[in-house]
Order: sequence, then structure tokens, then C-alpha cells
Amino acid sequence: MAYRSGRHFLQIPGPTNVPDRVLRAIDNATIDHRGPEFGKMSLEILDGLKAVFQTKRPVVIYPASGTGAWEAALVNTLSPGDRVLMFETGHFASLWQKMAAKLGLSVEIVPTDWRRGVDPAAVEAKLKEDAQHRIKAVCVVHNETSTGVTSRIAAIRRAIDSAKHPALYMVDTISSLASIDYRHDEWGVDVTVAGSQKGLMLPPGLSFNCVSEKAVEASRSAKLPRSYWSWEEMIANNRTGYFPYTPATNLLYGLHEALKMLAEEGLPNVFARHARHAEATRRAVRAWGLEILCAVPEEYSNTLTAVTMPAGHDADALRKTILETYDMSLGTGLGRLAGKVFRIGHLGDFNDLTLAGSLAGIEMGLALANVPHKKGGVLAALDYLSECAKQAAPRKAA
Ligand SMILES: Cc1ncc(COP(=O)(O)O)c(C=O)c1O
Repeated sequence: MAYRSGRHFLQIPGPTNVPDRVLRAIDNATIDHRGPEFGKMSLEILDGLKAVFQTKRPVVIYPASGTGAWEAALVNTLSPGDRVLMFETGHFASLWQKMAAKLGLSVEIVPTDWRRGVDPAAVEAKLKEDAQHRIKAVCVVHNETSTGVTSRIAAIRRAIDSAKHPALYMVDTISSLASIDYRHDEWGVDVTVAGSQKGLMLPPGLSFNCVSEKAVEASRSAKLPRSYWSWEEMIANNRTGYFPYTPATNLLYGLHEALKMLAEEGLPNVFARHARHAEATRRAVRAWGLEILCAVPEEYSNTLTAVTMPAGHDADALRKTILETYDMSLGTGLGRLAGKVFRIGHLGDFNDLTLAGSLAGIEMGLALANVPHKKGGVLAALDYLSECAKQAAPRKAA
């Protein structure tokens, strides 16, 4: 394809734009992964990850996409035929369910209309029904990337507790970690699943399990076959900064740098930035007269917004127009949402002006593709961003 000037706008909800500092870090000579320099770096990474997961527990790193970490969470803790409670909040939750079934688990599925998150009351009711404690794990996708809906992880924890049920609690944070507040320890999560390519601002290729003591205890008697994914060797090797097999050295360089960047900005500021960009985006969508897919305002996602197309208009045709004309990629509709929604990713290495550019591309694209809408979405977002900047200014000076 011929050269296109300027930066491509990668506004899918992950992989996200990889910042130059991370790219430069990855672009270093690969070193001996059993040597002293590598061991020192790994220990810094394993420690730095704890701050991001808000945990004191070990975080296991796999050279795999997020799907690998899903599998690791299940095979390390469960046995063939174990019952797991899962909620079909969207495309990714349903993929995790399919995986659990393929692994020989007995999956109990609670369906939704793909417009809302997991209902804590439903969790409590399901667990109370299970007087014999057959359910061994409750699995929830924190931020459903196909719908832009964020489930309430702390409230679900309270629901599990009030049912007095011993099931493990597993949470997929692939599109929320390092973007939306998430607290592995405080929220009593047993296995947190995460990936490198979204809030952590890295290319795809690394994924994570953060594991509670209860999860490690469960892994001692769990019978699903596992070898590559086994936590045991990984956690033992990690204690000295090494891995049981060849790690993804150059991606780890990138992770080392990304963790420094997140610490420099400060996690509360990272969360506030994502919240600001999400709110600005929603104001734009409303001003265009389009509908936000998420039906529950307290579950709006801070990392992406899925926008429903007016009847008779194809989301992929709009995405094609925007890609060809303005060199911006937006997320496609997945599964049953194919053609019906487009998704705006506003996460990772992102600032007010990147958002302004992204929304401008969408507003111009809507006009070009003859999608019925009102003008003024960009302006509504800019007004909100300016208001936020004004409110932040005196605090900075103080
Ligand atoms: C919430 C969620 N879970 C799981 C996955 C699967 O991860 P991967 O595609 O990295 O294997 C994704 C991918 O986007 C995701 O967004």
C-alpha cells in the first residue's frame, strides 16, 4: 500500500497505540534470559506488576495472548466435570465459556441481552441455590470489549460472600487493567486474567494470571491436565527472576518501560484520564443522536464505547469509509453485533487531542457515509474536555 502521511489512528479497543518509549525499549538487543541482567529486570517487572493489579500476590507472565491466560486460570484450579458459573455478557464472555466446555468443565451459563454487566443479585441467587457447593468457580469478564460494558467486580464479590459460597472468583481484566480501577486483593479475586495489548500499552503477546493464596491451594489438587500453563514451576522460577521456559525477552523490555510510565503518571491519574475520555466520547455520541449500546449508565466502560447504528445502516461500511478516508481503524461489531455497532477505543496511550482527532474522524465519516446524525458531537466533547482542564488547572498550580 502506498505511503500515507501522518500517524494511523488505531482506535480499536486493543491492541492500542504503542508509545514510542515502549517501542524504543523493545528495540534493544535480545539478551541471555538466564543471565544476571535479565534476572534483575524480571524482578523489577514482577514487582511493578503488583502495583498495577493492586496486589501483594504473585503475577504469572505467559508468552501468549489473553486466551492463553484464560486457559491457564481454568486448568490450574479446576478438575474435569467441575461446575463453573459464567455470564454471557458478550462475545468474549461466550468465548471463555466455549473454552471451559472444551476443557471438560460443566458450564452453567447466565444469559444477558449483551447490553448490561453481570447482575450481583443473580450471582447471589445462583450461589444460594447451590447448597451443595457444586459450583467451583464464578467467572466474570470485568470489561466486555465487545459491548463496552463494565461489570461491578466488588459488588459481585459481596454477592458471593453474602451467599457464603466457597467458589473461586475469576475475573478477566484484559480490556480494563491499567485503565479502569481494579483491585485484585481488596476485591477478593482468586485469579485475575490480563493481557499486554490494551491498558499496558504493549503489542499483543504477553498475558497474565494474578493468583490468590486460595487459587494456589486449589491448584494443588486440581486435576485438569496442564504443563505449559502450570503456575507451580513458573512461580518457583520467578522468585529469582527467571522462567521455566524461554520468556518473550523483548516484550518484557517493553513491559518494564510501560510499568515505569504508568508509575510516573500515577494509577489514579490513569483511571481519571480514561474516565474523562469515556465521558467526552459519550457526550459526542449523544450529540450525534446515536445510541450507546450499554444500557446501564453505572456500567459504562471507560475504555471503549460501542455505538449502535441507525436501522438500515451498516457499521462496517462506515468503518470502511473512515479507514479509507481518514486512516483510522475503529472496532468492528463482534458475534451477534456484527454490522450493528462500531466500537471506539479510548484507552492506552491516549490524550485529549488524540480523542478530539478520533471523534473528528468519526463525525466526518458519518457525513461521508450518509449515516443520519446531527452535527456537534466533536464540539460537545471539546466543551467537556475544556471544562475538565479548567477544573484541573488550579489544582496543578496549588
Ligand atoms: C475481554 C477480553 N477477553 C479476552 C480476550 C482474548 O484475548 P486475546 O485475543 O489476546 O487472546 C480479549 C481480546 O480482545 C478481550 O477483549
